[in-house]
Amino acid sequence: MMKCLKPVGIVGTGSCLPERILTNSDLEKIVDTSDEWITTRTGIKERRISDDKTATSDLATCAALRAMESAGVVAEDIDLIIVGTVTPDMAFPSTACIVQDNIGAVNAAAFDLEAACTGFIYGLSVGEKFISTGQAKTVLVIGAETLSKICNWEDRNTCVLFGDGAGAAVLREVEEGSGIMSTVLGAEGWKGKALMQPAGGSRMPASHETIEGKKHYIHMDGSEVFKFAVNIMAQAARKVAEKVGIGMEQINYIIPHQANIRIVEAAAKRLNFDMERIYVNLDSYGNMSAASIPVALDEAAKAGKIVKGDNVLLVGFGAGLTWGSCIVRWSI
Ligand code: UT7
Repeated sequence: MMKCLKPVGIVGTGSCLPERILTNSDLEKIVDTSDEWITTRTGIKERRISDDKTATSDLATCAALRAMESAGVVAEDIDLIIVGTVTPDMAFPSTACIVQDNIGAVNAAAFDLEAACTGFIYGLSVGEKFISTGQAKTVLVIGAETLSKICNWEDRNTCVLFGDGAGAAVLREVEEGSGIMSTVLGAEGWKGKALMQPAGGSRMPASHETIEGKKHYIHMDGSEVFKFAVNIMAQAARKVAEKVGIGMEQINYIIPHQANIRIVEAAAKRLNFDMERIYVNLDSYGNMSAASIPVALDEAAKAGKIVKGDNVLLVGFGAGLTWGSCIVRWSI
């Protein structure tokens, strides 16, 4: 087992959401759907949608500045910026480099990390290694998305599910016995076709045909992803608890990926874990992919649901298909 040289924890969080709210009844006017269907099948009531001028880096920058303020760090302190996203501003430069420029983090390295909805947990795991091995002192991990820009607003199977937003966390060395206790990451690439944006890369470069064929939008086999999610959420939670050497009864709070209330409830049932101690905000924001977990974490922390010493379990899944979990002993 890898020995962490330095304990690394989250020392500040921040989030940022576009102002515009799109409700289920608004969607009833766009596609053949109903508030009743969306609410009972997903738990989502409304989501935030960015305007034409707002790109992922704008939301990421705003969340980053809030996290830095809460951590009490300045831009020059940051050694590394990791942005988890599937909706970068453009293929290159990376959204992380755009954020670096926006905040003036002149001493930072910067890269994007693509693990879809699991991107924030993957980012935490990578950021932690940089600090624990002494390669960085301060790492900014951001999950940011503008999924509304890649939704097919004629496809009721997908457009009702997603929303825009960003969340960020600052990582630093913390007291022994606190911080990130462990992370577990995984992927099942052979299931990748269940959730994809087929065109725009080297396999299917943008062309008139790809645009006419609506291949730049999210394509999803919802029930395939649903089955995967229900199994993997509980498994991933158990795996990381075992790795840390604690039982689920020692977990104070769970921050799950916010895709569908039925997935969260199924995982809670399998883990025999009280829903009261699971943070849910998908009713307000829908699925924000890599932004879901850090936004929920920021809200839970600011609402006082997580306090110093708590074992907080983050768990998620997403396109790839990827999955991941992390236990953080809260240190602020
Ligand atoms: O972060 C990872 C991203 N993805 C996910 O987490 C998605 C995971 N999957 C899910 O959450 C669920 O599978 C969905 C919410 C996407 C779908 O729920 P479901 O209970 O699995 O519904 P279904 O796909 O089995 O569809 C049932 C019916 C279908 O009609 P027919 O074929 O039975 O006549 C759909 O056409 O519901 C229909 N339907 C809708 N009806 C009204 C699908 N979307 C809608 C809609 N409004 N928006």
